[in-house]
Amino acid sequence: MSYSVAIDGPAGAGKSTIARQLARETGFIYVDTGAMYRAMALYFLRQGIEPPEADRIAGACKEADVTIVYEEGTQQVLLNGENVTGLLRTEEVGNMASASSVYPEVRMKLVELQRKLARASDVIMDGRDIGTYVLPGADVKVYLTASSACRAKRRYEELQEKRALGSMTLEEIKADIEERDYRDMHREFAPLRQAEDAVLVDSSDMTIQQVMERIRSLIRP
Ligand code: DC
Repeated sequence: MSYSVAIDGPAGAGKSTIARQLARETGFIYVDTGAMYRAMALYFLRQGIEPPEADRIAGACKEADVTIVYEEGTQQVLLNGENVTGLLRTEEVGNMASASSVYPEVRMKLVELQRKLARASDVIMDGRDIGTYVLPGADVKVYLTASSACRAKRRYEELQEKRALGSMTLEEIKADIEERDYRDMHREFAPLRQAEDAVLVDSSDMTIQQVMERIRSLIRP
């Protein structure tokens, strides 16, 4: 039986930073499920599909093939054979991923891939519905969150550092985050919520090291 750690939470809570670092320490595979939803979103954007077009989204799901490969331990996302990993972390793609991930067709396809990866290896998997839906029997479940003001500030600084801020203000980023939270928490199918058996970690006033220590203590105690 493989071992699995599920880390769920809203956008910008620090899930990927923590999950990547934990994976490095434990030797488990880091599965970034948001990147899969983002790859599907990129496909929809390229096809000029708008989120309300449910039929076109369902149709496009049959044409878009998302696969995951690992290069030197780092997840690479292939969209119909093209490595799109470097194109996924923009606000445009993130917003489209949140809007298009409400569709069951999109979710079913990716959940199957996620479960397959967890069966094959020990994983640290982050997302929105890992502890509640994808891996309900995960060995460790964490719900990692922080205040929206705090998450917006972190995202702002990250974009600034990457020189990817453009003309966006901190207020706009905060509004984007709150809109995404609302959508992710209120969709009908597998919404974002804390699993009953998940440990709540609020990182608003914690350093990355403190969050790491807290979660590390839960793994194979
Ligand atoms: O974690 P992220 O910002 O890369 O995720 C982008 C969007 O993808 C998120 O707003 C909602 C969706 N998503 C999801 O619905 N379920 C997941 N397990 C992961 C992401």
